[in-house]
Amino acid sequence: MKRQLHLNLFLHSRGHHEASWRHPAASPFALTDIRYFQDLAARAEAAKFDSIFLADQLALADDVGQAPRIWLEPLTVLAALAVSTSRIGLIATASTTYTEPFNLARQFASIDHISNGRAAWNIVTSWLATAARNYGGAGQVSHADRYARGEEFMAVVKALWDSWADDAVLDDRASGRYAKPERIRPINHRGDFYQVAGPLNMPRCPQGRPVLVQAGSSDTGRRFAARHAEAVFTAHMAKETAQEFYTDLKQLTRTEGRDPDHVLILPGLSPMLASTEAEAVRLAREINDLTDPEVGRHRLSGRFGGHDFSHLPLDVPLSPEDFPAPDTVEAARSRTEVIINLVRRDKLTLRQLLGYLAGARGHYVTAGTPEQIANLIEDWFSDGAADGFNVMPPLFPGQLDVFSAEVIPLLQRRGLFRTDYAGTTLREHYGLPRPPSAFG
Ligand SMILES: Cc1cc2nc3c(=O)[nH]c(=O)nc-3n(C[C@H](O)[C@H](O)[C@H](O)COP(=O)(O)O)c2cc1C
Repeated sequence: MKRQLHLNLFLHSRGHHEASWRHPAASPFALTDIRYFQDLAARAEAAKFDSIFLADQLALADDVGQAPRIWLEPLTVLAALAVSTSRIGLIATASTTYTEPFNLARQFASIDHISNGRAAWNIVTSWLATAARNYGGAGQVSHADRYARGEEFMAVVKALWDSWADDAVLDDRASGRYAKPERIRPINHRGDFYQVAGPLNMPRCPQGRPVLVQAGSSDTGRRFAARHAEAVFTAHMAKETAQEFYTDLKQLTRTEGRDPDHVLILPGLSPMLASTEAEAVRLAREINDLTDPEVGRHRLSGRFGGHDFSHLPLDVPLSPEDFPAPDTVEAARSRTEVIINLVRRDKLTLRQLLGYLAGARGHYVTAGTPEQIANLIEDWFSDGAADGFNVMPPLFPGQLDVFSAEVIPLLQRRGLFRTDYAGTTLREHYGLPRPPSAFG
C-alpha cells in the first residue's frame, strides 16, 4: 500500500483564528459546553481523522476581557469524548513541570482503558511564565531545568505503565485469584526530582502505553522528541523550514537508536477554504477584520516572556532588533525564532505580523480551493516536509466541514488517506508498534 497520510484535528476555541469566537458563523455552543467538543469529535470521526488534540495552559491570560482564554481541563474532556466516540484517537496536553508522574501515569492509563486504546499524551514542559505562580509561587523554572525534570519524569511514567505484565490480571472468581502478584512489580525510582515506589495501581493499558506526542522545536526540545515522541507537532510558516525540521528530527531519532518511521511529524496547517481562491481570500480578510491589534500585541509580549512591545508603531516595518534574542527567552523558544525569521524575511509591519499570527499563532496559514489545499498537503507529504498534518481550521464547525467534505475525498481519491479505520487503537491508526511488556 502507498504511504498513508495522518491527520490530527486540533480543537481550539471556536476556530484557530484569533477572532473566530466572535464570527457570526462560529458554533453557537458555549466553550464550556461538552456538547461542543462532542459535536466536533463526532464530525472528525465521521471524516476518519486519526485523532483530535486539546492544548492546555495553566494560567488565565489577562486579556480575557477581549478574547476567550478559557478551556475545560483536557483530560476531563477526553473522558467524556472517550465514551461519545469509538474510533478516533484522543490527545490531551499535560505538563511535566506542574504535575506528579504518578498522577499523570494513572490519568492517561485510565483514559486508555476507558477509550479501549485511543489515548495519547502531548508532553509539555509549560512555557507560560504565569503558570509558575499557580504552583507554589516560585519563579519560572528555566528552559534547561524544565527539560531536565521532563527527562526524569518520562523515565518514571514509562516504568509505571510497564509495572504490570499484560497477563497480570486473572479475575478468576472460581479460584479466588484476582491477579498474579509476581507479574506486578514496584519501580523503586529515586532520582534528582522524583522518588516513586510504584507499581501503578491499575493493570497495563490496552496500548501498553498511551501514544506519546511532543511539540518542542528548540535543540533541547528536538532531542527530547527524538528520545520519546511517537508523533510531533510543529509550527512552520514555509515548506523549507518544515523540511529542515523533518530531516533533522528523523536523523536525531536514528541517532537515538529508534526507527524514524515511528516518529510522525505533523506540522500545523490552517486553511481557509472556499470554492474559488478569491472567495477564500475574501473570507480570510473578513475574519481578519474582526481582530483587535492590541490583543495581538499583548499576546506577542507573552510569547517573548513579557517583553514590552508597547512603544512600537503598528504601521512601520519591524526589524529583528525589535525583539529579544531567542536564546534569552525562557518561554517557547522555537516559536520566537519562527517569528523573528518571518520579520527578517518579509519586512513586515507590526500590524501585518499580528495579522499573520492571528491566523494560527505562527502555524502555516493559507487560503484557497480544496484542490489547492490537497495539492499543498500532497506536496509537503511527498517532499520530505511532513508525515501528515495537524489540521487547524480557522472557524468551527464550518471550515472543518469543508475540509472533511472537499479536501479529504481528494486525498482519498489519490490513495493518500484512509477511507475507513483499519484498526481500533490510535497506535493502529498511526502505524505505531505496541511497546512490549517489560516482563518478557
Ligand atoms: C501544535 C502545538 C501545540 C502545543 N500545545 C501546547 C500546549 O497545549 N501547552 C503548552 O504549554 N505548550 C504547547 N506547545 C508548546 C510546545 O510544547 C513547546 O513548549 C514549545 O514549542 C516550546 O518548546 P521549545 O522551547 O523546545 O521550542 C505546543 C506547540 C505546538 C507546535
